[in-house]
Amino acid sequence: MTGGGLDPSTPVGPDPGLDDAERARELRELIAHHSMRYHVLDDPEIPDADYDALVDELAAIEAAHPELVTETSPTRTVGAAGATGFAPAAHRVPMMSLDKVVSLDELLAWGARTRRLLELDDEAARTLRLVCEPKIDGLSISITYDHGRYARAATRGDGRVGEDVTDNVRTLAEVPLELALDGGEVPEELEVRGEVYMAIAAFEELNARQAAAGEKIFANPRNAAAGSLRQKDPKVTAGRALSIFTYQVVSGDRTREAPSVDQVSGEAAVELETDAAIGHQSQSLALLRRAGFPVNPEIEIVTGLEAAYAYCTAVESRRHQLGYEIDGVVLKIDDLSLHRRLGATSHAPRWAVAYKFPPEERSTVLQAIMVSIGRTGRATPFAVLAPVRVGGSTVSLASLHNEDQVALKDVRPGDTVVVRKAGDVIPEVVGPILSERPEGLEPWRFPATCPVCDGALVRLEGEADTYCVNFDCPGQKVQRIAHFASRGAMDIEGLGEQRVHQLIEAGLLADASDLYSLGPEQLTPLEGFGAVSAANLLAAIDASRGRPLPNLLVALGIRHVGGTVAHALATAFGDLDAIMSVGEEELAETPGIGGIIAASVAAFFRTGRNREFIGRLGSGGVSFGTRVVSQHPQVLAGKSIVVTGALEGFSREGAEEAITSRGGKSPGSVSARTTAVVVGASPGTAKVTKAGELGIPLLDEGGFRHLLETGELP
Ligand code: IVH
Repeated sequence: MTGGGLDPSTPVGPDPGLDDAERARELRELIAHHSMRYHVLDDPEIPDADYDALVDELAAIEAAHPELVTETSPTRTVGAAGATGFAPAAHRVPMMSLDKVVSLDELLAWGARTRRLLELDDEAARTLRLVCEPKIDGLSISITYDHGRYARAATRGDGRVGEDVTDNVRTLAEVPLELALDGGEVPEELEVRGEVYMAIAAFEELNARQAAAGEKIFANPRNAAAGSLRQKDPKVTAGRALSIFTYQVVSGDRTREAPSVDQVSGEAAVELETDAAIGHQSQSLALLRRAGFPVNPEIEIVTGLEAAYAYCTAVESRRHQLGYEIDGVVLKIDDLSLHRRLGATSHAPRWAVAYKFPPEERSTVLQAIMVSIGRTGRATPFAVLAPVRVGGSTVSLASLHNEDQVALKDVRPGDTVVVRKAGDVIPEVVGPILSERPEGLEPWRFPATCPVCDGALVRLEGEADTYCVNFDCPGQKVQRIAHFASRGAMDIEGLGEQRVHQLIEAGLLADASDLYSLGPEQLTPLEGFGAVSAANLLAAIDASRGRPLPNLLVALGIRHVGGTVAHALATAFGDLDAIMSVGEEELAETPGIGGIIAASVAAFFRTGRNREFIGRLGSGGVSFGTRVVSQHPQVLAGKSIVVTGALEGFSREGAEEAITSRGGKSPGSVSARTTAVVVGASPGTAKVTKAGELGIPLLDEGGFRHLLETGELP
């Protein structure tokens, strides 16, 4: 423990039993502890958003009770002073933090406040230029150049004193050792600020290397960047792929500074931009670019807050495509003279604001691990979580995939766990926060029996998944029927899992074929059904009778048969009877159907239970698809023609279509049943050789045309 007598299992949420003074004290201890883990050890225990929530809670208490504010409160300071083996490096201009907003409303409130302070009229407010910069999730750095030469670098530390990391930053390939400016332009002293970060690819590579060497794994790119930069031996830093984006020019010449007095703290505002030639943030960025520093190419200058907000949402939607992590957008007023007029609070400038994206990681309590049964009987463990806002939505369930995944993550019911939901990706339990694990938690064990039917759960040797092997398990049945009715399958509107469950409970469905004998007299007595909703459901069921063959094939729930495979089968065979009557070998010759799929399809249709089910669907009036009637005479019926190499008058698909529209088949490989092989330019040697071995005629393009017209070999 680094924070003194703090019990790490102290709950993070507010405790109603504590009065505000006590809670504030407790929060300060917690924040000091987690700040140390984050800033000094580069090894945080809790997600950043949880840390922010602690600070926000403390700020709220302090706002309601100003008498509780202390000089050293973490709400008034940034970062942590480092007592970490690096020489202290005082910042001549403090490195401040940023105020944050998390919604359009808050952003507009910031705008209104700023406008009031600057006394802008409507027109001036509407045309206020803002520089929009991605907020890089790394660590801020200050680099100083003496007469154009790299001289010093320091971390932020507590904002006033950082750590001297001159030798480490020197190893960053992207940091120029000499400014690329014309002689006359080189200032005596130039301080540049920016963010050191690690690209995601580099982070993943580093962690793979660390794992292979049995070394520490970093929780995220930010920690990897901080841990890599803050190395005693700069050679280690040199071996890590660190990058930098610079975003601020601070002059060492303080004489031209025009301090404004801070209304809150009474301190002089300290943020300044003094190079006489630079009057705008956009010019600072241009200077940085010219001097040879990386400047984020995503940066844009916009007019007005609405355009700035549009930028924020646009960047947010692309944040996972950038290749490095960002946690928001920094909006800065472009005109530096306005910076001087606005000044700063004790910890943040008023001329900028951070628009923070919703956090993608939060901690919450893992209440239970349960098992769900899929339509194939697969038993999937999932986490039941105390609901938590993460990645823009509320998460209360997350898949844990299989038994090995649970063991690997070592998550146990009762643990506080980190939950991650990044973008559109489904929520994930990252792992437990071990310091918050209550004593005596047992590892979770996979149940031996199915939670739905009580039958045995079986995990085969060498397989990751566990199955309920009882075909009649009601859990599987619900999923099978819900899948049958789902979009892409029979698409029966209004028939979701809940309703399927209800109909099974009511004894109306033994399998999906029973849907086609339902009548209003059976539905209307059920809870939630009136005459209208019953009629709607029956109409939707009726409409499903005529779904195209690919939908029916998907609905059957054959392993490995999704939309694409179903289309390939339907195109090749035309109707269900044809597919059911061919053997595995012939299936395997169908374009787009490999051996594994062919085996699965053949096995499905061999199974008596499945054939009976299909028979019942037929009796229920379900269409099995009829061969598409072609305008061409079916001269190739029963013939199988393989095409290899490029033809002049046909594309590959065109040639296949020409064959199948005449009733023929165009499989992807040559077998004894092949009628002929059409050979174009650069043919596949395997096919030609096989045809030679089997004595199958080879046709050129002219021969192929003759065959298409007459159905006869030339
Ligand atoms: S400007 C006084 N611009 O965010 C304002 N900061 O929460 C100085 N950051 O300490 C910061 N990208 O570490 C600024 N384009 C950007 C940034 C950025 C990331 C970090 C920086 C700062 C923190 C504030």
